[in-house]
Amino acid sequence: MSQATATTAHFAPNDLEAYWMPFSGNRAFKKAPRMIVGAKDMHYMSSDGRKLIDGCAGLWCVNAGHSREPIVAAIQKQAADLDYSPPFQYGNPKAFQVATRVAALAPGDLDHVFFANSGSEAVDTALKIALAFHNANGAGSRQRLIGRVRGYHGVGFGGISVGGMVANRKTFGPGLPGVDHLPTTYNKEQHAFSRGEPEWGAHLADELENIVALHDASTIAAVIVEPMSGSAGVLPSPIGYLQKLRQICDKHGILLIFDEVITGFGRLGYAFAAERYGVIPDMICFAKGVTSGTVPMGGVIARKHIYDAFMKGPEHMVELFHGYTYSAHPLACAAALATLKVYEDEKLFENALRLEGAFGDAIHGLKGLPNVVDIRTIGIAAAIDLAPSADGAGKRGYAAMEEAFHRQDILVRVSGDTIVLCPPIMITKDQIGEIADKAARVIRAVA
Ligand SMILES: Cc1ncc(COP(=O)(O)O)c(C=O)c1O
Repeated sequence: MSQATATTAHFAPNDLEAYWMPFSGNRAFKKAPRMIVGAKDMHYMSSDGRKLIDGCAGLWCVNAGHSREPIVAAIQKQAADLDYSPPFQYGNPKAFQVATRVAALAPGDLDHVFFANSGSEAVDTALKIALAFHNANGAGSRQRLIGRVRGYHGVGFGGISVGGMVANRKTFGPGLPGVDHLPTTYNKEQHAFSRGEPEWGAHLADELENIVALHDASTIAAVIVEPMSGSAGVLPSPIGYLQKLRQICDKHGILLIFDEVITGFGRLGYAFAAERYGVIPDMICFAKGVTSGTVPMGGVIARKHIYDAFMKGPEHMVELFHGYTYSAHPLACAAALATLKVYEDEKLFENALRLEGAFGDAIHGLKGLPNVVDIRTIGIAAAIDLAPSADGAGKRGYAAMEEAFHRQDILVRVSGDTIVLCPPIMITKDQIGEIADKAARVIRAVA
């Protein structure tokens, strides 16, 4: 830990009331806070001075590891050189460099990058581009958007409408009109304890044909899916599923959007899952790993024909009435360039691919521990489903998170009674063993 970290290690705020924490049990947290004050590489430091291994890359984002020197230095220098520049009608050189780098990492003719500041904004941007693209092509009747049950696409109104996680939708009104959903790809009987892409389930993509039959292709703009659903608990696409979706979308002139906010930048051993599956979507949403979580940045990579559809009319006119004050923020661009260089220099995507087997072995080794009812692994991502305890759904999961943080010195992500593990992809084989051992202790402790 740095000097600065050491001196702040015992700092704790004395009033927790004002901060309304996102996606958190505020009252439970404030009774027994899990306070983090420092980070380096694979570890966090808690406010009581303990070093915890990061089992969830922050929130699926710190792929390159924490507070890495080249990224820190790039952000510091950028803050001194150019703190902010307006992205509407003006440019900063690094924005163009990041776009070029990101486009080069994406397969096929995914050549153009539109910047946002988060996954949620990336998703709303992609959905809006899809609608505007059809409009620009004289197909304005294509207004329906198709998501998937158990999908997670952030928390904007667009994202929750196409998303399919019940709790994220049910208290927020009707959402966007004209949205439909494909069925989830997860089937416990067919998939339990599977590694990588399950063999069963490609046929579930055919459900898109039924949706087309119901609404007519002329009303459908786009389908959005995560190649691997992370937030719903690591649900990889079945073998052949994404290829089928691509074929059906092509047949009906429907755009296919991959939400790669989690799968982008190495989580599955490639820059993008699109490459792993050999399927080229029309747009890719990214965020998180592009800056290794250091400065907020998100965006959409669009294929050439999409960008070209907008590049007409008087040249001085705005082509797409969309953008954010902080699109391509200089600090985010500096962080992204430095992060992408770390991925390349340290061959971190390759590291994830090389260690996928060892990670899968270690986590599947937890099968048989008390209450473990399913385990799924792919890339450097795993979910361990625990049976709910008698006192209610989510109680065992919450207890697991508390046990992990306060007593086993590991940060895990918990969704209901599922423990999710998705550490930084700079991980070593020994650290995989350490994470699996700590997870085993947590699971036994909450039996
Ligand atoms: C697939 C996917 N899309 C979108 C988002 C939303 O990203 P953000 O929280 O940056 O808005 C997430 C966040 O986990 C995600 O997993």
